Amino acid sequence: MWQHPGHDREVPAGTPLKEGFSLTIHPVIVDLWRERCGIAHLGSLTLVPSHPLDDGVLAVRDFEPLAQAVTEPAMWDYLTNGAGDQRSLSENIAAWQRPEFVPRVLVPADDADTAVSIFNRRWPHPIALAPTAFQSSYHPEGEAGSLRGALASGATYIQSTMSSVPLNELGVIAREGNEDGRGHWWFQTYLNPDRGVTRALVESAVAAGAEAVVLTVDSPVLAARDADRRNNRHLMPDDGVQAHQRILNPVIDPLASWEDIDWLREVSGVPVVVKGVLHPDDAVRAVDHGAAAVVVSNHGARNLDTVVPTAQVLPHVVHAVAGRAHVLVDGGIRRGTDIVRALALGADAVLIGRPYVWALASHGAAGVQHCVEILRTELSMAMLLLGAPSRAELTAELFGLHL
Ligand code: FNR
Repeated sequence: MWQHPGHDREVPAGTPLKEGFSLTIHPVIVDLWRERCGIAHLGSLTLVPSHPLDDGVLAVRDFEPLAQAVTEPAMWDYLTNGAGDQRSLSENIAAWQRPEFVPRVLVPADDADTAVSIFNRRWPHPIALAPTAFQSSYHPEGEAGSLRGALASGATYIQSTMSSVPLNELGVIAREGNEDGRGHWWFQTYLNPDRGVTRALVESAVAAGAEAVVLTVDSPVLAARDADRRNNRHLMPDDGVQAHQRILNPVIDPLASWEDIDWLREVSGVPVVVKGVLHPDDAVRAVDHGAAAVVVSNHGARNLDTVVPTAQVLPHVVHAVAGRAHVLVDGGIRRGTDIVRALALGADAVLIGRPYVWALASHGAAGVQHCVEILRTELSMAMLLLGAPSRAELTAELFGLHL
């Protein structure tokens, strides 16, 4: 039974809409609802159209328990945990709640324009999928499922170097829906101590259709992820940093330096995106060395605990870069309002990590697609509720500030 606040009687669920709302909603509107939305009874009112994934997934967080239920516990730890005491993990998320919005009203608009332009290519919305490793541990489709979900939802997919699906296979999938196969995915790399290895990887990614190369620079050593260390004791004798270095050094050169960005730009022939920058001076330096974009990222709080949350440092990086390169951001993006904040603080686009891997784990490619669509819908809703229906209106004035 449902008690309307304006009624002195109870209305049972399933009551014809006209009857239930007769005192408050004009019958003409009730007819429109019935004809256009198929809403005929109380109890069937919904703001979001029903989706084939009928698992009660309305927000991206809803994928999390579904993913956990089907994921091997050690890989679940690898996916969800942050480093150390995981303070930055919660701070990354909390920092997107500030500053509070001060919406504007009576801005005529019936739709939001979420499109942005990155490297002169139009993205229908500013959401990209961050590089995440070992995806076939979460779903048999692995990275291929993520790419398919990205293609179906208009998101750019960033393929991790630690991938279980060959690059040429990704290229074939990307080309299926697009004649030149470009514009849909980027390739993430580290700097291998043998630059010949990095060069060969990058060349095969570009040949397969990767439109940009993302150089991750925030992982010179393995981090103190306690659960992983516990779970992998048998694989990795934990005798301190030396042991960690033995694992990582064949993959990531701790002696990499700024000149390597110039080198990567030269050998790749595509835009280089430097991922893992937090200090504004480092962002400027990356751009000075030829980066076409930087990603403000603390690796999803997986590397250094108690590091600054990305939302906090983003406007400073944007200010320092001063329009010379794109600025993207990731870490803790879970809602459309987080994306609005990121854009209002000057980001050109955002990356999501864990949410789409949860969706991949629970529903494969269809889940990844749904995950992006949820965020895009929330983004549109937020823009309209803020009275800021286009990208140009997403500025610090949304917080009542003039940055
Ligand atoms: C990552 N991340 C990551 N980054 C990268 O440059 N190369 C990689 O191979 C990986 N692998 C990886 C695995 C898993 C399981 C996670 C969760 C993350 C970091 C990733 O690209 C991104 O920076 C964060 O995930 C963003 O934070 P959220 O959205 O997960 O909070």
